[in-house]
Amino acid sequence: LPTTSPIRRILLIVLTIGAACASGWIAGGLRGRSFRAQETPAMRPGPVPAQPPAARSSGGYVGSERCAACHAKEFEMYRSHPMANSMSELAAGPDSTGKFRAAGHDFEIEARGDATWHVVQRSVANYDPLYRFEEPIRFAIGSGRRGRSYAVQHGSMLYQSPVGWYASHGWGLSPGYQERERVPAFERRLGDACLQCHAGRVEGLAGRQDEFSQRVFAETAIGCERCHGPGQDHIERHSRGVAENSGGEDPIVNPARLAPAAREAVCYQCHLTAERVLRFGRSEYDFRPGDRFDDIWIAFSHDSKATGEAMDAVSQVEQMEASRCFQRSEGKLGCISCHDPHAVPSPETRVTFFRERCIACHSGGDQKAGCALPESDRRAKSPEDSCIACHMPRGTTSDVPHTSQTDHRVLRVPATGEAGSPSGFQLFSSFSSAVPAEEVDRARALLMAQYAQQFNDRILAARAALALVELRPRFLADAVLHRMLGAMEETLLRTQDAGQSLEAAVRLAPRDFETRKRLGLWLHRHGEYPAAVALLSELGAEAPGDVEVGGRLVHTLGNLRRTAEGVAVAERLLKHFPYDWQLVNWLSQAYRSQGKTDLAEPYGQRAKLLKPGLHDSQ
Ligand code: HEC
Ligand code: HEC
Ligand code: HEC
Ligand code: HEC
Ligand code: HEC
Ligand code: HEC
Ligand code: HEC
Repeated sequence: LPTTSPIRRILLIVLTIGAACASGWIAGGLRGRSFRAQETPAMRPGPVPAQPPAARSSGGYVGSERCAACHAKEFEMYRSHPMANSMSELAAGPDSTGKFRAAGHDFEIEARGDATWHVVQRSVANYDPLYRFEEPIRFAIGSGRRGRSYAVQHGSMLYQSPVGWYASHGWGLSPGYQERERVPAFERRLGDACLQCHAGRVEGLAGRQDEFSQRVFAETAIGCERCHGPGQDHIERHSRGVAENSGGEDPIVNPARLAPAAREAVCYQCHLTAERVLRFGRSEYDFRPGDRFDDIWIAFSHDSKATGEAMDAVSQVEQMEASRCFQRSEGKLGCISCHDPHAVPSPETRVTFFRERCIACHSGGDQKAGCALPESDRRAKSPEDSCIACHMPRGTTSDVPHTSQTDHRVLRVPATGEAGSPSGFQLFSSFSSAVPAEEVDRARALLMAQYAQQFNDRILAARAALALVELRPRFLADAVLHRMLGAMEETLLRTQDAGQSLEAAVRLAPRDFETRKRLGLWLHRHGEYPAAVALLSELGAEAPGDVEVGGRLVHTLGNLRRTAEGVAVAERLLKHFPYDWQLVNWLSQAYRSQGKTDLAEPYGQRAKLLKPGLHDSQ
């Protein structure tokens, strides 16, 4: 390793013990991998500003409909692209009926009036059902080319339905729910990262991560301005008919005219589905066409480049950058060398379409190397002489979301056999970068912390905490760093430190839900009940879909002997979370303490069914 900073030494240790593994929404794809410290040679160290950069203006957007007047051709073509159908408000329709059984639960998809409901229930002997809960669905995520996820809304928050739809086999559990012992419920938040990749333009709430206005989207599906930038000034310029002589640049962005790094970033902002960490002070909505990817995010990837394998669990971006076409074309080859951004070729024309794209560089003339195989041999195997059939075959991982299906490595000889699994994370940055080295260290430490949290890994938490403490003096105004440090300190039972870190985080981001929630849970755990009740009540009102906040509030009220208030909150929560054995058990005990045995008994029975063995040790 080039340097001996303590953080890199720590990462080496992490590497040797192989402590980290991953999953998240890249379901199951990344198990058992370790972190690896590796710098890109072009990385130039530089100072980190003391204050976060100013948020990008959100003005100047007009919506795709406005472009139709002058660009009817692009508008009509783009309409049928999966990206133009990436997200939709769900009304009753073909998505509204179905049923299936999984993970010990029965699921039903039902149309009721204009709305679609997802119903989950579980039955056991004599209890049919033991519990049942249901939610109306607000949005469908995905055009359905490979699959769909569904979102429900509670206040300013969105949650993912446990019900998903797959092009290959129809209804089933959403990715990730299979692995969990927990009830497949509506508890997983859908946040900024998810929506910035799947929606046109999100209406977030100022100063709050992962929270949205009532209508959620200013433009629902991915639209023109995601790739071309805000259109208002461009339209004004051309409406006035002064384009030719007014001088100055047309403010609309044509990605094809950008330098390679910025050109690719237009697609990478959504298609680089590696591990992405926001830079200091940035939000998921800050990217504007013309920016470079690393103006906003720092990405870590699996080292498929080094192994030359790993067809699975890797995005088209990572694969393309591993191709010789990309590496030898000096910035010429990019996503739009092969893809028309506005249209997908039809099944009848796709072979010819892509063949022409290849031949633009591989015509076989003097300087342009064609296929090494004579055309007659090729046609013997592929009558259409399909370049992509031999050099970009389709893999078998069609059910894993966020991974490439088509082999974008453009190999000379098609890969054979099972793809091996990649072995580590590395910084993903092929274009030279001017990100200060400390920001890369910060991003890596935050990623470690995220993994430590996700897998409840204390060794990794210790490494992350050490790295974050070391970085803290450079990032005093960084709410995210303080919040994650607090989370690590809690995992490590460093109670006082955790409280201080979380309070610092709340001072820096006084409106952010997740930050305040961390502090609320901390206050509860450390017995500061009056303060906990105040904060948790506030949070509970904002997030009626958050059973963790609600549950802690109930428990705290109980500890303060405000049982009647606790019962009221618990009964309300139970309507949405009837499977939560802790709530049911608490209610049983609360009623008993109030002398209401007739109410306490059935709750006690139910708690035992929900959590077998619950009272056995008492
Ligand atoms: C009032 C008519 C009008 C509207 C509305 C309009 N444009 Fe244009 N646009 C033009 C004209 C005229 C040109 C061609 C300019 C030229 O050739 O220099 C153009 C060119 C472009 C280009 C190519 C620029 C380049 O440098 O190659 C893009 C991209 C573009 N428009 C996108 C959009 C988008 C996106 C919208 C909607 C937000 C939009 N336009 C709305 C009139 C319009
Ligand atoms: C705002 C995010 C976003 C941007 C920007 C974006 N994409 Fe996409 N793209 C998506 C999503 C999401 C899907 C999946 C849509 C679906 O099926 O629901 C997708 C799907 C695709 C597909 C698959 C089409 C098919 O056959 O199913 C291609 C090809 C594609 N994008 C190419 C590009 C290229 C090239 C660029 C850059 C010029 C680009 N995308 C920019 C988000 C984006
Ligand atoms: C970094 C950007 C990014 C993030 C974050 C992201 N996605 Fe995606 N997602 C994509 C892209 C790009 C595709 C299309 C890729 C392809 O076809 O190979 C996709 C595909 C999908 C599909 C299949 C769409 C179809 O019609 O076939 C679903 C469903 C989906 N994502 C759901 C989600 C959910 C739910 C989340 C958040 C929990 C999420 N994604 C987070 C970029 C993202
Ligand atoms: C996924 C990204 C993406 C989306 C979405 C998108 N474009 Fe484009 N657009 C591009 C790229 C990339 C180019 C340059 C293509 C090239 O020259 O190869 C382009 C080129 C153009 C041009 C210039 C065409 C020319 O002949 O030079 C116009 C006009 C345009 N787009 C309008 C639109 C309109 C209108 C919409 C929405 C209906 C739209 N685009 C949606 C990426 C996108
Ligand atoms: C923008 C130009 C460009 C496009 C478009 C392009 N390539 Fe390439 N490709 C290259 C360059 C440059 C090389 C490296 C040639 C060398 O090594 O001398 C290359 C190398 C290759 C190789 C050799 C790989 C190896 O490992 O030796 C194959 C096979 C290939 N391309 C196939 C394709 C196919 C199939 C397509 C279309 C789907 C395509 N290319 C599109 C520029 C391009
Ligand atoms: C050398 C040509 C080439 C390049 C460069 C290329 N693609 Fe593709 N891409 C293809 C082909 C061929 C397909 C399969 C199309 C089909 O089967 O009809 C494909 C399919 C896709 C799909 C559909 C899902 C899948 O994996 O089959 C997405 C999404 C996609 N490409 C995104 C991208 C993005 C993003 C980039 C830039 C990072 C990119 N592609 C660069 C040729 C290319
Ligand atoms: C029937 C399968 C098949 C088809 C179809 C095919 N190729 Fe190839 N191609 C190969 C094989 C096999 C090799 C490697 C030959 C070797 O290494 O001896 C190759 C080699 C190449 C190379 C590397 C050449 C070199 O000298 O390094 C390029 C570039 C290439 N193909 C491009 C294309 C293009 C462009 C098309 C479509 C016009 C195409 N191929 C169609 C099988 C195919």
